Amino acid sequence: MPKTKDVGTSEQHTPIKHAIMREFVAKEVRAANSLGWIKRLVWIDLTAGNAELAHGTDWSDSCSPGILASCAVESTQPVIIDLYEKNPDTYIKLVGNLDKNLPALGYRRASDNGWNEWATANVRLRAWERDGREAGISHVRRGDAVLVLNDPNSITEWAMRRTFASEINSIRGVKGIRTLSCVGFNVSGIKRTPFLRDDPEPQPDSVRARSDWYGLIRSITDTLPDRLDLMLAGFARDRSQWAYLFSSPTVWRDKGEEEAVIAEAFTAASERHDYEYAWAKRDREKFTRLVDRRILTRAELAERETPALPFEESGDENAA
Ligand SMILES: C[S@@+](CC[C@H](N)C(=O)[O-])C[C@H]1O[C@@H](n2cnc3c(N)ncnc32)[C@H](O)[C@@H]1O
Repeated sequence: MPKTKDVGTSEQHTPIKHAIMREFVAKEVRAANSLGWIKRLVWIDLTAGNAELAHGTDWSDSCSPGILASCAVESTQPVIIDLYEKNPDTYIKLVGNLDKNLPALGYRRASDNGWNEWATANVRLRAWERDGREAGISHVRRGDAVLVLNDPNSITEWAMRRTFASEINSIRGVKGIRTLSCVGFNVSGIKRTPFLRDDPEPQPDSVRARSDWYGLIRSITDTLPDRLDLMLAGFARDRSQWAYLFSSPTVWRDKGEEEAVIAEAFTAASERHDYEYAWAKRDREKFTRLVDRRILTRAELAERETPALPFEESGDENAA
């Protein structure tokens, strides 16, 4: 039996993230192929990275551009993929790795930043050297189902503008938006960030105080339609406090399909990792507790459980 361990390195997190990501995208394709009422798939990767093989030997499983490009060729509906990468050096590597790996999946270069799947002309993939927070949605139209990947290096780099889901939901006839956010709440000890901002003017997209981080999660939960719920699945013991937040249809939730996906992801790796999860709507209290555990320090959590008497010290505020 593999051993359960504390985690802390990206070698341990990344294969789990990609296993969850791959199923998140593959299930969208399987659903669209069988449903008939989704006319087109629009996929937006707000944080594409360099598209290097991050682990293993299969590019299609080991970076978000590879996952998107390989799942798209299984779709019977047209797919548009937009990859955003804000770092200029990383963008150059991204384009190089797309050139290197896309032909094996049947794509050919069509422009400076575009590749088309050749046999069916069903998939268009574009790379943008731009901030994902400014991702364009003018191409989204009636009949589209939108899928968004938001995978920054830490929560303070959250790349999905807070209005993004509601902007897409308000497009007439759109079939919905599902999002996957991969979030390290304490990468490099960022929980040392003060809980409250000291500037009096609240800034709508701020992540400068930990209290702002609640707003990032609310920007997804507040816009979930009745038919979707949001799962938080995270490592139970992890210094960086990585968690994966993804929206799924309640029918999949009720059949336990997503529980099976995360069980497979967290236990299939050579080291089995303890994990915890909750659904935002179905398990509201537990979801809130798991979010609190990631945003609040131990001292703040303890204080919340047992409010300190006025003469007591509150302890180490910075411990994760
Ligand atoms: C964790 S890596 C992404 C890995 C990639 N999603 C994968 O699974 O292969 C994060 C990348 O997102 C980029 N990034 C962070 N914030 C961004 C933003 N607001 N817009 C675009 N790119 C961003 C970083 O430069 C970095 O290359």
